[in-house]
Amino acid sequence: MLTTNYSYENCLDNSLKSAWTIEDCFQGRDFDFSKRFLPDRIAGVEDISCLNAAEKHKLNQIRGNSYCHIFAFVEEFIIPMVLDHARADIYGDETRLRFLLRFAEDETKHQAMLARASKQFEAGFGVTCEGISGREDVAEVVLGKSPLAALLLTSMIEWFTQQHYVEHVQDAGDLDPLFRDILKFHWIDEAQHAKADSLLIKEVAGSVSAAERESAVDELLELGGAIDGLLAQQVDMDITALQNVTGRHFSAVEREDISSHQRRAYRWTFIVSGLEHPKFIEVVGQLTDTGKGKIAGAARALSN
Ligand SMILES: [Fe+2]
Ligand SMILES: [Fe+2]
Repeated sequence: MLTTNYSYENCLDNSLKSAWTIEDCFQGRDFDFSKRFLPDRIAGVEDISCLNAAEKHKLNQIRGNSYCHIFAFVEEFIIPMVLDHARADIYGDETRLRFLLRFAEDETKHQAMLARASKQFEAGFGVTCEGISGREDVAEVVLGKSPLAALLLTSMIEWFTQQHYVEHVQDAGDLDPLFRDILKFHWIDEAQHAKADSLLIKEVAGSVSAAERESAVDELLELGGAIDGLLAQQVDMDITALQNVTGRHFSAVEREDISSHQRRAYRWTFIVSGLEHPKFIEVVGQLTDTGKGKIAGAARALSN
């Protein structure tokens, strides 16, 4: 059903060895606004023909701030979900319990780190950049799905978080150093979380029917659709922030031009890069007969 070489013992060992604090990440630094924050694979600003270089630079930074905001937003549900799984076997495997409690604690640390990043961003950037609201409501929707669907969403997020850093940020020496470190420290923890997700998926999948495993993929794609709607709201907010910081008013045509590029970039970042992650495809392929085809189809549809 799901074979993995991971163990809670190994996750816990690695987590203890790589433990870090928010101050280890920030080291008293501020952002350097002369630099870009995100690689263009994530920001998707370079091909927007109606923006000049300075405007693209600002939009890249707005996207950096939104990246932090969206992460804090989509990870909110992980804390109660992991605590529920820890609690389900509270007197059982102590190593499992220790790791899952660390996992939940890591996510509260990430929330605090990302909130600090947004606060420092706003202080340095000069204008307020609005972020989508209602994270508790979204968490409730995710946790209202089957436990397997919520875990699949978590697994997808935790694999793409790592990919963003390792493949697109780690070697991008021209980006703001503090912003790169925020993604680096996040990746350090997510490298263990993604393995634990597979262990939890294995536990949960063992007690549900084949039909329930198949429908968990449908639920995941429904959640993906809901996330896509939220991303569209964030695109509008980012364009408004860009208008405010540049003093430029975009015509309807220009707004549409920026919006279509940004929709594609946001979809790749927060949905498609997860649906197409080889490790995530492997998890879905092992759990289901039809899931791999469904997630590939959804990734294709969202890439147009
Ligand atoms: Fe996280
Ligand atoms: Fe995580």
